[in-house]
Amino acid sequence: MINVREISPDDAAAYWQLRQQIDRETEFLRFEPDHWLVTTQRVRERIELMLATDNQTIFVAEMATQLIGFLWAGGGLYRHNHHRVHILLGVLQAYQRQGLGTRLLKACEGWGRGHAIQRLELSVMTHNFVALALYHKLGFQIESTAPYALCLDGKYIDLHYMSKVLT
Ligand SMILES: CC(C)(COP(=O)(O)OP(=O)(O)OC[C@H]1O[C@@H](n2cnc3c(N)ncnc32)[C@H](O)[C@@H]1OP(=O)(O)O)[C@@H](O)C(=O)NCCC(=O)NCCS
Repeated sequence: MINVREISPDDAAAYWQLRQQIDRETEFLRFEPDHWLVTTQRVRERIELMLATDNQTIFVAEMATQLIGFLWAGGGLYRHNHHRVHILLGVLQAYQRQGLGTRLLKACEGWGRGHAIQRLELSVMTHNFVALALYHKLGFQIESTAPYALCLDGKYIDLHYMSKVLT
């Protein structure tokens, strides 16, 4: 059985491993290899900080004791954007297409509604058709497209900025 739940500080090591594995598996999350040169202790402190803030969290998908997917939700730092949350998610390749992306996003939406979050936002590479299908399915809309937003290995990549207002 796969469980979707909010992260706890004790997940720090497993979460760190998961993020690194997903980064290795996908071209769509764009973190550099040295992005994760941090200690488990730092990851733990980051998780603690997020959980202590009412507009930030991380959800994880867990099977037995293995973490297999995540959704990171980072809220605005100021009063004027406290209601806005930027999200990022990923699922291990072996567990994709089993509804986990959908479950993680729905969990985030439920959490958002309970935390006075009014707007979920994200950016997605325009050729990430799977993620785009998922976001459209859940009611996210493309607000704008940024040509040449990223440069990866000398190749320029466009980004869609998408959002969903939680009414
Ligand atoms: C995007 C991602 C999180 C989706 O996770 P997932 O668990 O496979 O998603 P789901 O099983 O809930 O699928 C949801 C929808 O996505 C679409 N989808 C998923 N896999 C697909 C595929 N292989 N081909 C086409 N559409 C697909 C479908 O619309 C699907 O809905 P349906 O099953 O009702 O038809 C996952 O593919 C992933 O981690 N990708 C790499 C990281 C990434 O791109 N993150 C997003 C960065 S913006």
